[in-house]
Amino acid sequence: MKIVVTGVRGQLGYDVVLELNDRGHEAVGIDVAELDITDAAAVDAFFESVRPDALIHCAAYTATEKAEDEPDVCRKVNAEGTKNLAVACKRVNAKMLYISTDYVFDGEGDTPFDINDKIAPLSVYGKTKYEGEAFVREILENYFIVRISWVFGINGKNFIRTMLKLAEQRDTVSVVCDQIGSPTYTKDLAPLLVSMVESEKYGTYHATNEGFCSWHDLASETFRVAGLNMNVIPVSSDAFPSKIKRPENSRLDKSALDENGFSRLPDWKDAVKRYVAELKAQENGD
Ligand SMILES: NC(=O)c1ccc[n+]([C@@H]2O[C@H](COP(=O)([O-])OP(=O)(O)OC[C@H]3O[C@@H](n4cnc5c(N)ncnc54)[C@H](OP(=O)(O)O)[C@@H]3O)[C@@H](O)[C@H]2O)c1
Repeated sequence: MKIVVTGVRGQLGYDVVLELNDRGHEAVGIDVAELDITDAAAVDAFFESVRPDALIHCAAYTATEKAEDEPDVCRKVNAEGTKNLAVACKRVNAKMLYISTDYVFDGEGDTPFDINDKIAPLSVYGKTKYEGEAFVREILENYFIVRISWVFGINGKNFIRTMLKLAEQRDTVSVVCDQIGSPTYTKDLAPLLVSMVESEKYGTYHATNEGFCSWHDLASETFRVAGLNMNVIPVSSDAFPSKIKRPENSRLDKSALDENGFSRLPDWKDAVKRYVAELKAQENGD
């Protein structure tokens, strides 16, 4: 299949293109330098010339705090950009897979959110990502919407990288312990996304690594597998003043994967171990 991937210079898009290449698909990886998704005419022209079988849309405005100061810019990318892509997919009859987020939920309670639970985003980022979902559902029939959370991958910045960087400068770090969710390793997610677009099992899914943890647990596990002796102090979210309220409960119910015959991702601790090894290999130039 010929598959366009947006956000190829970000964390997820990078690994999706590698996975497509591994499986012998024709991957067309693009980012803002090749195509600004907010430019509707450029998006149309691009899809008319490439005529892909599918799109895996990983590009987004992901600066969650900054989005509160520039909601229009964030909306233009996450909502309007996604709409432009959905319209173009419809025109060339391509399947579309749109990546969304746990931030569409309000984070109340302590049970996993079902795919059909009430949408109640707490932030501009969450709202605009949901507006993107709504456009996809309105415009297309052949779509996948995949909500993920706490992403880490080799091609970009993320929480784990930040923790390892901090460990070079100090031996104690305070990390919030009252937000619970699941990390998502892009190298584990990419094969699932490719399997989805190879199928016709359209719909809305949640997909993360298995198991739940707090940011404090994630930091502690990172230092443990990296062999670093760090003192990790658990603190509440109030300890870090922020422009946005982050969901306290980001647990996602992944039963839609089972119901459609897709395999779940490995446990989050296993993912952290492999990711730290991947970072070490990158550092050593392997
Ligand atoms: N990161 C997380 O923790 C997380 C959690 C839940 C869901 N998600 C979702 O997962 C997906 C992948 O996230 P990620 O962490 O891989 O994101 P990322 O590393 O921030 O990559 C996103 C890419 O999109 C590009 N982009 C921004 N505006 C664009 C535009 N107008 N036209 C074309 N490309 C544009 C960015 O370019 P610039 O860097 O030049 O702006 C960047 O290369 C996104 O849909 C995100 O909303 C992420």
